[in-house]
Amino acid sequence: MTDRVMSSGYMQWAKTHLQAQFNLASSGLEPYPLAKLPVKIEDLELTGPSFYGYEPLQKALAKKCGVSSDCVVAAAGTAMANHLAMAATLKHGDEVLIEQPAYELLASTAQYLGADVRRFVRSFDNGFRLDPDEIARQTSTRTRLIVLTNLHNPSSALVQNETLKQVGEIARRVGALVLVDEVYLDALFEDAPATAFHLGEEFITTNSLTKVYGLSGLRCGWILAEPSLAKKMWYLNDLFGVIPAHAAERLSCIALENLDEIAAHARRLFETNKHLLNAFFKSRDDLDWTPHKFGTVSFPRLKKGNVDSLCTLLAEKYETSIVPGKFFDMPQHFRIGIGCETATLTEGLARLGKALIAINGRRYSKSSGSGD
Ligand SMILES: Cc1ncc(COP(=O)(O)O)c(C=O)c1O
Repeated sequence: MTDRVMSSGYMQWAKTHLQAQFNLASSGLEPYPLAKLPVKIEDLELTGPSFYGYEPLQKALAKKCGVSSDCVVAAAGTAMANHLAMAATLKHGDEVLIEQPAYELLASTAQYLGADVRRFVRSFDNGFRLDPDEIARQTSTRTRLIVLTNLHNPSSALVQNETLKQVGEIARRVGALVLVDEVYLDALFEDAPATAFHLGEEFITTNSLTKVYGLSGLRCGWILAEPSLAKKMWYLNDLFGVIPAHAAERLSCIALENLDEIAAHARRLFETNKHLLNAFFKSRDDLDWTPHKFGTVSFPRLKKGNVDSLCTLLAEKYETSIVPGKFFDMPQHFRIGIGCETATLTEGLARLGKALIAINGRRYSKSSGSGD
């Protein structure tokens, strides 16, 4: 038997390498400051009536998602939401089918739980599109859970409802469930489809206010599941987190009341930054890329040269961070996040351009970068 996975290599890297001056590695929006939330000290309390949920927060999340409160399980971020969702649906030895490339914690959490992890491929040449035929090919009668992200991390590709329904069909045929991590879906703002939870009883979804709204510190995450499964998750959470920090629950309610304003700020920033990223891509012939349409991250491929060397040079000489593709098992790619301040992105991309020139030893840029 292989050793049980007891840690996440990606999280260890992220917690120690993300904090460059020009941070293009983060997949979320720059932090939304507490000072911009209309909070009075009387709105807060340290301890309160939070048992299997804090009722005002349960109601606010249920309203946002268009579901009844008994389908909502609050969790410490989407990370814990995914953990709870998997822990409640997988037994040791169960087969779980996870997209490839994927956010590393999805696979390591399933492995920690003793699941037999299988992968289905989303290919770069196909725009990282979700291909139901590929999922059907990789599904077996032992498959208990199919796991995907929408929008996709690392590419931001969107999965349409029609495709999700086909995945639900495949899952139903073998008695499996589908877990859709929707932490990036709100980056479509008013164009965002409703949560996949509404597509059928096979679907469990997870989300949080972390990435799109810059509210990571609240750890306001949630799972949507049918009520009996939701109850199982609440009881399981007694073994993990017991109860959340009540002040964070109160602040989350205030954030949800003001979400339109927070979203407007986020939308403006992502829109501006998207154009900068696409202009950068167009200026280069050392990268394979697809135009960035929406979402917080992009996943180009380096045509020639070593991505780890690029990341090291970029960090050490240019104080800029990106995520090496090896954490997504695609070592020729890297992930760029565009949720930082526009000035940071502008300078970070300029520095990335210089590092790209330096590692390839010649000037690849079509623009007139100085190439030091
Ligand atoms: C797909 C995906 N799910 C979950 C998370 C964790 O989100 P949270 O900060 O809400 O726990 C991340 C973080 O990068 C992610 O990319």
